[in-house]
Amino acid sequence: MLRVAYIDGDGIGPSIMDSARQIIDASGVKIEWIEARAGDQAHTDLGDPLPQETLATIRDTQLAIKGPCTTPVGAGFRSVNVALRQEFELYANVRPTRAFKGVNCLFPGLDLVTVRENTGGFYTSMEHWIGNKDAAIAIGVNTREGMTRVCRHAFEYAVANGRKMVTAVHKANILKLLSGLFLDVATDMAKEYPNIEFNDRIIDNMAMQLVRDPYQFDVIVSTNLFGDIISDLTAGLIGGLGLAPGANIGDTVAIFEAVHGSAPDIAGKDIANPTSVILAGIMLLRHTGHSKEAQRVEDAVLAVLAEGTHVTKDLNAKAGVGTRAMTEAILTKLGD
Ligand code: NAI
Ligand code: MG
Repeated sequence: MLRVAYIDGDGIGPSIMDSARQIIDASGVKIEWIEARAGDQAHTDLGDPLPQETLATIRDTQLAIKGPCTTPVGAGFRSVNVALRQEFELYANVRPTRAFKGVNCLFPGLDLVTVRENTGGFYTSMEHWIGNKDAAIAIGVNTREGMTRVCRHAFEYAVANGRKMVTAVHKANILKLLSGLFLDVATDMAKEYPNIEFNDRIIDNMAMQLVRDPYQFDVIVSTNLFGDIISDLTAGLIGGLGLAPGANIGDTVAIFEAVHGSAPDIAGKDIANPTSVILAGIMLLRHTGHSKEAQRVEDAVLAVLAEGTHVTKDLNAKAGVGTRAMTEAILTKLGD
């Protein structure tokens, strides 16, 4: 029996998480879901967006699946998502981007993965004002250890998954130390992997090339901020944020979630696409060694996407169905 902390999050979180839980339960893997609270609603209800109890639950289960958590913009409490990644040293954020048959998208057949450094860079919350808010300073921190472990993860991921190439994305021409350290570590490590092709791109050029010809990339490794931006961009290439899962991996704990946020603009309407967090659940099954069951669920999701009738409106604007109806369609496939 797997024990998994279950955080439903904010906005569309509870609805898509309910969908994912039903579908993962139908995989046949026995899971005890241990509900834990985090996010804006937890802040309102409990006075703390990330209660100690939630941290204790995850420390105990070492596995979690979470819905997106709202972070106030400009002021207010710091991101729960970032705090969780730092607390449990979830240094590698693995975000696959895959174009699915039947989904209308810019780049059919695209299949690439972003590995984002997840604990450092400009996400350290070290910011301060100067004078009477005359200037603002943010401190970015990249450590050699941090760069080494995320690059190692990217290369090992490439080897384990039959990938051919790793591209390091940086801004070492301007941030000569902060980004240069990352590039140096990646370039040195590449020598240990003679069977994996290695190259690098400067982030601005990378953005242009991803939009023009993403097929030239395979595994992308980058620092925290660039990896965050790249993975939303690549989601856009394959049909949107409704199709983009992510795994936050550390040495002991792993937390699975969607790439997207709490989508307050569509919350409570039964229209959110649950696929991202379902795919995150499939990553959880594979991570815990249940690859057969993961494949069964993935086949069911792929079949529903390929038919294109029981999918949400982000994928089929005219005839799209609600979150619940899409969930039912996947469950029916699993029961066939
Ligand atoms: P967002 O990812 O929530 O939404 C961006 C756009 O994509 C919106 O138009 C939304 O409707 C659409 N979208 C997102 N997920 C969708 C889905 N499953 N199905 C259909 N359409 C979908 O980004 P936004 O609006 O910038 O952020 C909202 C909140 O989420 C913020 O508070 C942000 O801090 C938080 N956030 C949380 C994350 C997490 O929990 N890991 C990650 C990213 C943002
Ligand atoms: Mg993001």
